[in-house]
Amino acid sequence: MNWVFVKDVKDYDGKEVVMKGWVYNKRSSGKIWFLILRDGTGIIQGIVLNNEVSKSVFDKRDELLQESSVTIKGLIHEDKRAPGGYEIVIRDITVHQIANDYPISLKEHGVEFLMDNRHLWLRSKKQWAILRIRHAVYYAITEYLNNNDFIRFDSPLLTPNACEGTTTLFSVPYFNLGNAYLSQSGQLYLEAGIMSLGRVYDFGPVFRAEKSKTRKHLTEFWMMDAEAAFVEHEENMQIQEELIRYIITKLIDNNKIELDILERDIEKLKKADAPFKIMTHKDAVDFLRDKGSEISYVGDLGAQDEVLLTEDSDVPIFVEKWPKETKSFYMKRDKENPDLVLGADLIAPEGYGEIIGGSQREDDYDLLLQRMKNDNMPLEDYQWFLDLRKYGSVPHSGFGVGLERLVTWMTGVSHIRETIPFPRTIYRLEP
Ligand code: 4AD
Ligand code: MG
Repeated sequence: MNWVFVKDVKDYDGKEVVMKGWVYNKRSSGKIWFLILRDGTGIIQGIVLNNEVSKSVFDKRDELLQESSVTIKGLIHEDKRAPGGYEIVIRDITVHQIANDYPISLKEHGVEFLMDNRHLWLRSKKQWAILRIRHAVYYAITEYLNNNDFIRFDSPLLTPNACEGTTTLFSVPYFNLGNAYLSQSGQLYLEAGIMSLGRVYDFGPVFRAEKSKTRKHLTEFWMMDAEAAFVEHEENMQIQEELIRYIITKLIDNNKIELDILERDIEKLKKADAPFKIMTHKDAVDFLRDKGSEISYVGDLGAQDEVLLTEDSDVPIFVEKWPKETKSFYMKRDKENPDLVLGADLIAPEGYGEIIGGSQREDDYDLLLQRMKNDNMPLEDYQWFLDLRKYGSVPHSGFGVGLERLVTWMTGVSHIRETIPFPRTIYRLEP
């Protein structure tokens, strides 16, 4: 007999199959009871009929508590009324383990309790749906990059230097070499990679010792950095837009079940799949001040500014050409106004905030050196990075996508902590 996954039952209508999983729930009404089974790929309703199984199988009704692990045998049949459109008429049940006193019931729990039990909470329907969307977003990103000639280039996580400023570095003792820092972004290394491979990306965990207590900040999160030789600022934004729209299309095509569980308004996602807007930082500040924000002309957008900026926009907005003081040392100056840099942040609609940071990079040796000196950076740690501007320097650009920020937007959840299996925040290192 075939072991079949819930996702595939439509191919087994009228057939006897074996299914393996956990008891998600059960319901009983006299001579019949229902075993709701989840197997990782989905949830199916099993029916146990008094007159079709042995007494010992029927009596499992009382033994099988929520999250008990089982193998069942039965007959698949289509039933429009059943959730998912199919059910299994159970003939036999083998119990692997009875789960006693599973702490998470199907009713509401407080978030701290759920976070303490994150290792179990992951099994609930909503978390299942979020994790599958995370997988789908991850997969769509790598698919897009692969289709567009970006080569995976794994950057190191233990580094001697800072990519995004020194205020959010985690340091670890490193043998006789002093301290190493956990990477904030692989970008600087990718800039070496493009001189060999043309277009590269990395995708892995990065670390920021962020003291922020917002619903958008993790201390360990996943970033996809992409970098491309001979690509300038405008084209850099085009690539980002294409990538994000590709992801939206893939999710709408393939993840309807998950988006429905999450009650995500799919129409809003569909509307975001249209040409993105571009605003200069100055225009964005003008716009925000008109709306009552106190943001300064040399300031970053606050969370509330990001909400205000996009509240009437269906599509994400690129905020480009930032004052040089507000951005990292590596960004290239705007030829038209050297006080500005050719960087852009991509701000998601519906208040989800910044999902991508990117820029054209300074490719001129002297200008970069000057900027690093002004910022009092330890030049000896960055000689290799300066070398890239000495031996065949080319215009180049790149960007970094925060995976969990993107998944927060796609799933519509209210807090980033649910978009990664085991979130790390300023308050939480466990489980
Ligand atoms: O804007 P950021 O800091 O850009 C960089 O690190 C560049 N070096 C990337 C590059 O050009 N290759 O970070 C990129 C993205 C942000 O837009 C945001 O989505 C996410 O990373 N991010 C965070 N996500 C969760 N928690 C945090 N503390 C985050 N900080 C940044
Ligand atoms: Mg940023």
